[in-house]
Amino acid sequence: MVPVIAAVVLAALPLAQIASCGSSPPSCPLGPGLESAEIVNTPPTWPYQKFKSSPFTPPQFRITTNGQPLAPGLLFITPSEQTPEVATSDVAPLIMTDAGQLVFNGPIVNATNFRHAVYKGKNILTYWSGISTAGANIGHGYGNVTFLDTSYNEILTVCPKLGLVTPDNTEYSCEADLHESFTTDGDTIIVSAYNATQTDLTSVGGPKDGWIFDCLFFEIEPETGKILFQWSAIEHVPVTASQQPLAGTGLNQSVPWDWFHINSIVNIGDEYLVNSRHTWTTFLLTSQGEIIWQIQGNTGGDFGPLPENGHFRWQHHASPHNITKDSITLSYFNNYNSAIDNGTNQTTGLELLLSLPPKKSVSPIVLKDLADPNEAIFAESQGSAEILPNGNTIMNYGQIAILKEYGPNSNSDVRWTAQFAGPNLVQSYRGFKHVWHATPTTCPDLVVENNGTCGAGYVSWNGATDVTAWAVYEGPTNNQLSFVGNVGYRGFETAFTVGGECVQVAAVIDGKECERSNVACI
Ligand SMILES: *[C@@H]1O[C@H](CO)[C@@H](O)[C@H](O)[C@H]1NC(C)=O
Ligand SMILES: *[C@@H]1O[C@H](CO)[C@@H](O)[C@H](O)[C@H]1NC(C)=O
Ligand SMILES: *[C@@H]1O[C@H](CO)[C@@H](O)[C@H](O)[C@H]1NC(C)=O
Ligand SMILES: *[C@@H]1O[C@H](CO)[C@@H](O)[C@H](O)[C@H]1NC(C)=O
Ligand SMILES: *[C@@H]1O[C@H](CO)[C@@H](O)[C@H](O)[C@H]1NC(C)=O
Ligand SMILES: *[C@@H]1O[C@H](CO)[C@@H](O)[C@H](O)[C@H]1NC(C)=O
Ligand SMILES: *[C@@H]1O[C@H](CO)[C@@H](O)[C@H](O)[C@H]1NC(C)=O
Ligand SMILES: *[C@@H]1O[C@H](CO)[C@@H](O)[C@H](O)[C@H]1NC(C)=O
Repeated sequence: MVPVIAAVVLAALPLAQIASCGSSPPSCPLGPGLESAEIVNTPPTWPYQKFKSSPFTPPQFRITTNGQPLAPGLLFITPSEQTPEVATSDVAPLIMTDAGQLVFNGPIVNATNFRHAVYKGKNILTYWSGISTAGANIGHGYGNVTFLDTSYNEILTVCPKLGLVTPDNTEYSCEADLHESFTTDGDTIIVSAYNATQTDLTSVGGPKDGWIFDCLFFEIEPETGKILFQWSAIEHVPVTASQQPLAGTGLNQSVPWDWFHINSIVNIGDEYLVNSRHTWTTFLLTSQGEIIWQIQGNTGGDFGPLPENGHFRWQHHASPHNITKDSITLSYFNNYNSAIDNGTNQTTGLELLLSLPPKKSVSPIVLKDLADPNEAIFAESQGSAEILPNGNTIMNYGQIAILKEYGPNSNSDVRWTAQFAGPNLVQSYRGFKHVWHATPTTCPDLVVENNGTCGAGYVSWNGATDVTAWAVYEGPTNNQLSFVGNVGYRGFETAFTVGGECVQVAAVIDGKECERSNVACI
């Protein structure tokens, strides 16, 4: 078949160059390689990136920086639609660089908690995916947790069947809630779950046979699905601890009262740290689930009164650090806002130092109170604040599609901001930053097309983190390819000038050629 480019070449080039058909004409040098993402801007959809060699459409980050150093690592986010249609181009677990380049586009699913973990001594990624916000199940979900290895192979799926009751008696095949999926240092996984159940609500002005969402967590052996431990909030915490108004809920099974709203659980040795958004409280539990102590965002709970800027409400992502027998620090994404309590105090990243054992006479000390003085954010739902190994903190503003990285020493040292959708249109429940190295087992994807007198090649390799260059092979047919040079790696997709009819590229990692792409002919 006569390639289309031949006609262009015939029309445009002198005879001497037609004679060299098949080898690179001098007018088509390989060049250094180009970054090739096309930015599509079609409001009301947020600008997104488009590629020739892959179908993905990640958001275009709108980035501002103050020039100070960022922590090393890649960003792990899970954009999903809050306002369908006008929201996002891409609903998937994503790995992005802090320059806004795509690294890995996971499957098109509503996901949460896309993060690095260590499982059986190996680096892995996990994410939750499933159904969220169906009917009366507002603010929680039913799904499974996928484990990926460093080639993005699915090595496990944890699909707990827990026997949950739902408001409309829908049964879901996998019943892990979207809020927590935490791989422990003991190679187990902790997941949250929401169960519609009955309890006496007279103490809060509801019916004697009222309905609530009980909040549960399960520690599970990933390979077998065996439940090693389970805990129920209603068995340990009185409903009077709730800050969430009944507001017409709790009357029947269709409208359970979301009184506790569990959203983070991690283990500390054989104990558990459990965060409850709707009681403004974090609990430390024994291995048997008994409460050891609690810290409440308004009163301090078992600790002394909180300093003014140490108060928290509707908080997410309670994470322990620097644990000794005398003290522990807890970091939070402190929403301070909810759908019914919005707009007086901006959302902060909080870190509190607690003296142990707790004493009412000793107040927690505020170590971090992170907020952008130039951009007050009121995040009513979701969010995470992750203190990174170098002391920087990544805040992912949940319902508001903004990430910010703060420096280690000042509460207002906003080093980097990336917005990836308009306000309240796209959510990413949590967002993490972690160093991650991966090489897919798939082949790099290559396409070539006419580009005036020369051809243009476009190569991408979804998930590859360590490619430094692409070795380019060209020739007149697909079995007569020879090396013409290297082009630099320029992000998710690299474009380069093609002189031959047929092209193949090999990824260069650590100076060595490894996996080859398909052969593509113009
Ligand atoms: C994500 O969930 C919403 C409902 O909350 C649903 O409308 C949408 O189709 C889901 N998207 C995907 C990719 O499954
Ligand atoms: C896990 O959940 C996804 C939906 O996100 C579904 O497509 C898949 O079939 C589930 N896997 C298992 C093993 O249940
Ligand atoms: C869920 O609640 C129902 C009562 O509505 C109860 O029978 C069942 O045991 C609960 N499930 C779990 C896993 O706690
Ligand atoms: C449950 O209560 C809600 C709120 O009062 C009401 O709208 C709904 O009709 C009730 N459902 C049933 C099945 O009684
Ligand atoms: C843990 O303690 C060390 C030493 O005091 C300190 O440098 C570090 O910032 C603390 N980490 C966190 C997350 O608070
Ligand atoms: C919450 O409050 C902020 C600040 O007043 C406002 O910008 C935002 O629109 C409010 N959100 C809602 C859903 O009312
Ligand atoms: C919340 O906002 C109010 C009103 O601006 C202010 O008085 C109070 O100190 C703030 N609280 C916190 C914890 O920042
Ligand atoms: C395609 O052609 C345009 C116009 O000549 C040029 O600017 C661009 O660099 C070419 N692309 C490649 C990948 O060579």
